[in-house]
Amino acid sequence: MSTSPAERSASIPAHESSAMARARELGATVLGTTSPNPAVGAVVLAADGDVVGEGATHPPGGPHAEVVALAQAGGRARGGTAVVTLEPCAHTGRTGPCAEALLAAGIARVVVAVPEPTELAGGGADRLRAAGVDVVLGVEQAAAERGALAGWLTGVREQRPYVIWKVAATLDGRVAAADGSSRWVTGPEARAEVHRLRAGCDAVVVGSGTALTDDPHLTVRDTGGAVAGRQPLRVVVDRRDRLPATARVLDDAAPTLVSHAATPAELLAELFDRDVRRVLLEGGPTLAGAFLRAGLVDEAVVHLAPKLLGAGPSLVGELGIPGIGSALTFSVADVLPLGGDVQIRLHPTRHTGGGTRTGGDGADGGS
Ligand SMILES: NC(=O)c1ccc[n+]([C@@H]2O[C@H](COP(=O)([O-])OP(=O)(O)OC[C@H]3O[C@@H](n4cnc5c(N)ncnc54)[C@H](OP(=O)(O)O)[C@@H]3O)[C@@H](O)[C@H]2O)c1
Repeated sequence: MSTSPAERSASIPAHESSAMARARELGATVLGTTSPNPAVGAVVLAADGDVVGEGATHPPGGPHAEVVALAQAGGRARGGTAVVTLEPCAHTGRTGPCAEALLAAGIARVVVAVPEPTELAGGGADRLRAAGVDVVLGVEQAAAERGALAGWLTGVREQRPYVIWKVAATLDGRVAAADGSSRWVTGPEARAEVHRLRAGCDAVVVGSGTALTDDPHLTVRDTGGAVAGRQPLRVVVDRRDRLPATARVLDDAAPTLVSHAATPAELLAELFDRDVRRVLLEGGPTLAGAFLRAGLVDEAVVHLAPKLLGAGPSLVGELGIPGIGSALTFSVADVLPLGGDVQIRLHPTRHTGGGTRTGGDGADGGS
């Protein structure tokens, strides 16, 4: 279950590194469909190094990534290598143990990014090694932890969902105009990205202020406006029951929770109990401020529009910061042009209250 420093720095051949990058991509393709289980990706290489199988975790009760990739590889898996983002499980849950499936397929080597952190599913590497399989743990671990496994790992380590705060603002940080109008701050490409972000989450959260002002639908839709088959839980935090029965969020296009949670931590506990592992916090500034003050934002996705408004609500409300030295700080993960707008993805490095995060990946802690 644990890794030695030697394992963490283990170098692997280039074709296995490419397979690991592909496994991370595969895991990301099933985000929003696997919770409470991890979104794992797996690639099977034949003995000659050819990619012969690819897989990602199916929804709960369905096969795990390794099993999907092995099924695709068939007999070509014999003597080959399995490259997986998470250590194969050794226990029988709703599906059989993946370690046994790898042994049955005749896999000779297993390359793993993240060692299994739970006692329940641990022991896969030991089981494989005991059967003579060459197992390498901790390969490109940080990249896998920051990626598709971040939500699940936050759940294991902190018993709460991973929170992505998404906000669209003008160059002067306004999320709406002085008259309250906010459609549309950003262009169609940025709005399409919001739907992609929603699809990768288990719940989308707004405060009652946003629900009352904008009357958002909060569903995942394609560019033509068609509502997707799988929808995240829509959540409005409305402690004073101000949401009218006519609110669009209360239609039957997707499940909706109207929460009375007093604090962000209470809300996250409520969502965690419903198997939510990834939350998209869509605002507005008051609720975002409450999450930031509580140190409960793991990742921020800011869509900046090249516009100025000069007045209107700022992208975040009061943070209780007395001076520049206490500013909440972030590290920039990446910057992406989105049509005429720009997307900046960030991780908090220091939150209010002075706490400092190491690694800046929002998935702190060892394995
Ligand atoms: N451009 C964007 O990305 C974007 C996104 C969202 C919103 N907006 C804009 O933001 C404006 C609305 O701002 P807002 O700040 O009123 O919206 P908000 O943050 O969505 O809602 C604020 C309300 O949330 C409730 N709330 C629930 N839990 C809370 C907690 N733990 N701490 C604080 N409040 C909590 C409070 O009402 P109760 O006490 O009644 O529960 C509070 O009044 C609109 O103009 C909207 O267009 C823009």
